[in-house]
Amino acid sequence: MNIVLFGAPGAGKGTQAKELIQKYEIPQISTGDILRAAIANKTPLGLEAKKLMDEGKLVSDDIVNGLVEARLQEEDCKKGFILDGFPRTVAQAEELDKILAKSDREIEKVIALDVSDEEIIERITGRRVSKKTGKIYHIKYNPPVDENPEDLEQRADDNEETVKKRLAVYNEQTAPVLDFYKKQNKVYSVDGAKKLEEITKDIIDILEK
Ligand code: AP5
Repeated sequence: MNIVLFGAPGAGKGTQAKELIQKYEIPQISTGDILRAAIANKTPLGLEAKKLMDEGKLVSDDIVNGLVEARLQEEDCKKGFILDGFPRTVAQAEELDKILAKSDREIEKVIALDVSDEEIIERITGRRVSKKTGKIYHIKYNPPVDENPEDLEQRADDNEETVKKRLAVYNEQTAPVLDFYKKQNKVYSVDGAKKLEEITKDIIDILEK
């Protein structure tokens, strides 16, 4: 099960990935999470990525491709994986096909979560993430329970101004990735405006078709 979860910032990729990795026992590979870990560890890569991420811009293809290639070689990816936030440019999608071909693998399905820009801004500005567990919440739609308020944080790029920039980058550089996969007949669209559980069910139906 080699899956790409695709969608604009805040479309619900991370939220759905967390449900699917539990059900299918395969890893989630989130390039955003890998980059945020590098920032937290103050590595040279993290320092370079931080400025771009805070501005809502993409990190370079070479850096991200290298991170993903290394991660895909790990043992736990042999049974399958869920990519979240990658590929984000056509060049990344082309490179991913090459990386997977080296081990006779390929992307099987691309699940595209469809959500309007207004909804995205509301979702992202209301998002809170637990520092302890990595759980994703929303102050209105998925309020935190059993969490110490001090453990909840708001991502540095989760303000309205940066979200608008991230959406512009998505429309310009990431949306064309969908055409790349449509040509390979791998795209399955899901209405991402539904309730969390309904979306999970729709995705599972597609994966088990
Ligand atoms: P990344 O971390 O990948 O962020 P993103 O794509 O902008 O996506 P998000 O994590 O913001 O949203 P999501 O779709 O996971 O939504 P979530 O489930 O949290 O990337 C960050 C930055 O890193 C990029 O800007 C770039 O700089 C860099 N980067 C990363 N990958 C890169 C790459 N490949 N190449 C280059 N640069 C890269 O949900 C959002 C909120 O909505 C939550 O509060 C959630 O509770 C709520 N919610 C979710 N589903 C629902 C629902 N159905 N109904 C109501 N609320 C919902």
